[in-house]
Amino acid sequence: MKPIVVRFKAREHQCEIGVGAGLAQNLGHHIRRLLPSAQRIAIISNDTVFGLFGENLADSLRKSRFTVREWLMREGERHKNLRTLEQVLLFLSAFELTRTDAVLSLGGGVVGDLAGLAAALHLRGVALLHVPTTLLAQIDASIGGKTAVNTGAGKNLIGAFHQPAAVWIDPLTLKTLPPRELTSGWCEAVKQGAAGNSQLFRDTYGFLRSRSHSTGRAIPSILLLMSHCKFKAGIVSRDEREETSRSDHKSRRILNFGHTTAHALETATGYRRFRHGEAVGHGMVVAGEISARLGLLQRSELELLRDAVDLCGPLPRADNLDAAAIIEVIARDKKRASGEMKWVLLERLGRARIVDGKEISASLLRASLKAGLGRTG
Ligand code: NAD
Ligand code: GLY
Repeated sequence: MKPIVVRFKAREHQCEIGVGAGLAQNLGHHIRRLLPSAQRIAIISNDTVFGLFGENLADSLRKSRFTVREWLMREGERHKNLRTLEQVLLFLSAFELTRTDAVLSLGGGVVGDLAGLAAALHLRGVALLHVPTTLLAQIDASIGGKTAVNTGAGKNLIGAFHQPAAVWIDPLTLKTLPPRELTSGWCEAVKQGAAGNSQLFRDTYGFLRSRSHSTGRAIPSILLLMSHCKFKAGIVSRDEREETSRSDHKSRRILNFGHTTAHALETATGYRRFRHGEAVGHGMVVAGEISARLGLLQRSELELLRDAVDLCGPLPRADNLDAAAIIEVIARDKKRASGEMKWVLLERLGRARIVDGKEISASLLRASLKAGLGRTG
């Protein structure tokens, strides 16, 4: 299948995105074509994912005359930190990875964010290749060059923009993904359509409906995966660094639809109750409620959004959380943003409107949280 090419004109950089069943087992010749003078490839992964796909991938690279070594991080978001980053960087130095070689991430967004930052820092930047194996990473995290680790002060606070040279997406890798991870990815898929492209929303919604007998277990078609990748690529190629001055409906910021409440839900529950996409699922409905109450979004569109979120799979309960605690986190985030926090709301499904936090009264926020979080799995 023809790859999608993302061009970043200002820097003459381009990123190739390939989508295909079985691609992950056959990457050697693609990488040889892309990086003719590379000798070494450092695979960054974790035990679970490397155990599933790592050996086949490494064999394919060796057949294309690369020297391959893997470094496996400990499982989980809490290891996406500075200590692990240092360990990866020391590994890259010990492996003597040069400026013409490459770092390849094999895994979900956690592995991808960590490997991406290591690639940005090693020798001030080496080529980065992503082989994302979660739905969330395939349609979102692997595209656009955001890399990060967490610190005690918060999530993703240390990072860099470092665009991958290529992203290879194999939907067959999703067959082993736990249902909650699929649900989390589907919520991000609904987000992309709802915030930025009505056709993409309709296609995602239609696909989920057609698979409603397997709610929470549906694997996307190649066509739908490609539509999502094209959408994300289109947004990031025009607003690579999420410019703070931009608040139009095509800015990268719209991808934060659902994220204000999601972040508050994750923080208020110590990152233990929700997968990120699940929190975004709840957050989108809250943002939809606010939009409807402000008269921006029709109620019928809000119901469609709710339905789409339901089709993603069951979400952990959010109706038994202390609303005051959630509002407190939102207020704290607002303070951090110097009182200029923006909400991504909807004018309709497929078109976002960025609204200043000042326009949302405390009572409207409280009522929207109550109505939006009153959904369970
Ligand atoms: P994840 O990376 O934690 O992966 C989820 C779980 O699935 C892990 O336990 C992993 O080992 C397992 N797994 C991965 N692929 C598998 C497979 N094919 N089969 C079986 N198990 C598999 O979670 P995620 O949702 O992919 O990523 C979340 C991270 O992504 C967060 O750290 C978030 O900050 C980041 N993120 C980054 C961006 C970005 O633009 N860079 C965007 C969104 C999210
Ligand atoms: N996941 C949001 C972004 O890449 O900007």
